[in-house]
Amino acid sequence: MSEDSENQRKRSWAEPYKIKMVEPVRMTTTGERKTRIKEAGFNTFLLRSRDVYIDLLTDSGTSAMSDRQWAGMMMGDEAYAGSENFYHLEQTIQKYYGYKYIVPTHQGRAAEHIISQLLIKQGDIIPGNMYFTTTKLHQELAGGTFKDVIIDEAHDPGNLYPFKGNIDLDRLRALIEQYGEKRIPYISVATTVNMAGGQPISLKNLKEVRNLTSHYGIPIIHDMTRVAENAYMIKKLEDGQAHRKVSEIVKEICDLTDGATMSAKKDALVNIGGFLAVNDKGLFDKARNMVVIYEGLHTYGGMAGRDMEALSIGISESVDEDHIRARVGQVEYLGKKLIQSEIPIVMPVGTHGVFLNAKKFLPHLTQDKLPAQALAAAIYVDSGVRAMERGVVSAGRDPDTGQQNYPNLELVRLTIPRRVYTQAHMDVVAESIEEVYLNRNKIRGLKFVYEPRYLRFFQSRFEEC
Ligand code: F0G
Repeated sequence: MSEDSENQRKRSWAEPYKIKMVEPVRMTTTGERKTRIKEAGFNTFLLRSRDVYIDLLTDSGTSAMSDRQWAGMMMGDEAYAGSENFYHLEQTIQKYYGYKYIVPTHQGRAAEHIISQLLIKQGDIIPGNMYFTTTKLHQELAGGTFKDVIIDEAHDPGNLYPFKGNIDLDRLRALIEQYGEKRIPYISVATTVNMAGGQPISLKNLKEVRNLTSHYGIPIIHDMTRVAENAYMIKKLEDGQAHRKVSEIVKEICDLTDGATMSAKKDALVNIGGFLAVNDKGLFDKARNMVVIYEGLHTYGGMAGRDMEALSIGISESVDEDHIRARVGQVEYLGKKLIQSEIPIVMPVGTHGVFLNAKKFLPHLTQDKLPAQALAAAIYVDSGVRAMERGVVSAGRDPDTGQQNYPNLELVRLTIPRRVYTQAHMDVVAESIEEVYLNRNKIRGLKFVYEPRYLRFFQSRFEEC
């Protein structure tokens, strides 16, 4: 059989690895879970991991590392200054992402903190393709205001447009005209867009954004947390991209931007780590000076030498074609099962998780009754599957008026860790969601009993109402 016809045979995305070590998980009873969720104030972030059966809270820092990465951990050079692993990481980032200068940080939000403090002045405007919680908060703490310029399709869970991460160019141009380029320190472009349901931006759109911003001399700062997943969707769906390697597309995306913040805990397959990368030497010098205040020396930035080694290896594995096809394939598998059972989810299925549309799932609860928060709690009680709210609780309050934000999207995220769960786990998750859907009328709304000031979704507590 020729290689071509071999490639055309129908084959599933089956996991391109075998399991060498296992971590037992504990099954709990419904009665136990009812007690645990009450103790946790109906907030899945406040559950103990030992009480969770299948943990779909997040894909952040929850990946299984490969044997190569674990071997790399043994090669940690734990020198305070000039660790060998830093230089390896620097080279790897330059090779795969193309950015010139690297400042390591302990995770993504630390890089967001540094870039926001360095580039944003009081009264500045930062347009972006939908907000992300920590990114927006750091922009606000630096005196800026985030403005959403994502296309309208992204706010509609049922819209099937394949690139719902795209930026509305007219809206972006209008913002620049309204505020003037001097008040816009950069455009924030995320690959993929987490809060929209893990939706990709197209290469075509990114090129158009680059042209527009170049015209005004405005830099693009890339939130590259899930860039490999975005590149895979470009390969799969965008005209003329199917023949390219995911690694080539990743590199092209990065080349279209001026700098990046990275939470390496996602795409890059490590449990901790991140970095800020820039192409401007002056900005790099400032960032390198700032990292020593908040993170650690500029050759470790909050990571151990061994963490940096695992990250270098993780970056190379993240763009492996078999890996990325199976990673996104597993999410799609769960999404398709839920679609078959007519469960309301965000369409198209995202790359890092399946997002339930809580407004449609629980039409008897108005948004002030926090339907997504209530649904995540109900799923946990049903099966011990832990999901996360991505709706009104995550959206927080307007920093000027103190009023609660009511986003269009009121979602529960079933986030799939990389290389951790099997297809059978996905089947159990689907069965549980189906069961909860059948009994959805019994789910009661929630009200806040404790609300912290920042990033309230992490620590808020609720009661049934
Ligand atoms: N940007 C995006 C798009 C993210 O998804 C995250 C984290 C960050 C930045 C911040 O990075 O956690 O390393 O400080 N997202 C996690 C999640 C927390 O569950 O979606 P971090």
